[in-house]
Amino acid sequence: MFQITLQQRAASVEALLTDVLSDRPQNGEISRPPRLMAAMRHGVLNGGKRLRPFLVMESAALFGADNLAALRVAAALECIHSYSLVHDDLPAMDNDDLRRGQPTVHRKFDEAAAILAGDSLLTYAFQLIASDETELAAQQRVELIAALARAAGIGGMTGGQALDLEAEKVKPDEDGIIRLQAMKTGALIRFACEAGAIIGNADVKDRERLAEYGSAIGLAFQLADDLLDVTADASHVGKATGKDAAAGKATLVSLHGIDWTKRQLAGLVEQAEELLSPFGEKAALLKDAAHFIAERRS
Ligand code: IPE
Ligand code: IPE
Ligand code: MG
Ligand code: MG
Ligand code: MG
Repeated sequence: MFQITLQQRAASVEALLTDVLSDRPQNGEISRPPRLMAAMRHGVLNGGKRLRPFLVMESAALFGADNLAALRVAAALECIHSYSLVHDDLPAMDNDDLRRGQPTVHRKFDEAAAILAGDSLLTYAFQLIASDETELAAQQRVELIAALARAAGIGGMTGGQALDLEAEKVKPDEDGIIRLQAMKTGALIRFACEAGAIIGNADVKDRERLAEYGSAIGLAFQLADDLLDVTADASHVGKATGKDAAAGKATLVSLHGIDWTKRQLAGLVEQAEELLSPFGEKAALLKDAAHFIAERRS
């Protein structure tokens, strides 16, 4: 059931992204440079598990809001996540040639195109949410925009990426690693879950509960990523592996080993399930998502 829903949600978000990222100018734009659009589409429509969109839509559904607005916010978040990968792969950062089983954007196009495609995906995400076509109250849209900006920026993803690069030079301690991971990966996943609560007009208590669930699975997500970097091969994950050790990057896996990491992942899944327990059966798919994240093979 989880896999089927994940695939269905992925298909609907991809259909929307294909439509809004066409070459045709929209909403008063003067023009859309075709090569820039092609680079953006390559960055975002090149596969990917679409887990963050799933989390937005399932969290919104928990509060009865399984609607177009949730889909548009989900697509916006996938634009930001994909941009973070396009820039993460650049030579100045992780210098990777393979992403989602395909050449990275700077490999297929060039570095300038990858930088601009990333910039444009980032900005477009906010255009999508702010648009009147995202049929939510103005206050909800502002809350989503504020929360997404916070999650994607200094105290979230880009701040975490900065700390992550520093960690290749000066090794952080365990608390430092947890903080940087909560920022670089956790913040967008936490946003995904909190966004569903905002879209569904949940009360403050439920919104906080969803955000906490997002933090738990966000941490699990990066732990699993670091584990796969050690244990998986590139053909399975669609990106190079063994990179963290080669870069001398301190991760919780390098600090504590594989068995500890697996136990930690199981603990985080339990914590996530606990947080969802007040919602009962309605939250079954979100509970499955916690397992999927911790046990994933790609
Ligand atoms: C990869 O994210 C980058 C990290 C935050 C660890 P995903 O594993 O969600 O990548 P895609 O979207 O499925 O390619
Ligand atoms: C990147 O972490 C997380 C982002 C915010 C993009 P990684 O550098 O470990 O991600 P992968 O392994 O390249 O997907
Ligand atoms: Mg990186
Ligand atoms: Mg990387
Ligand atoms: Mg990684």
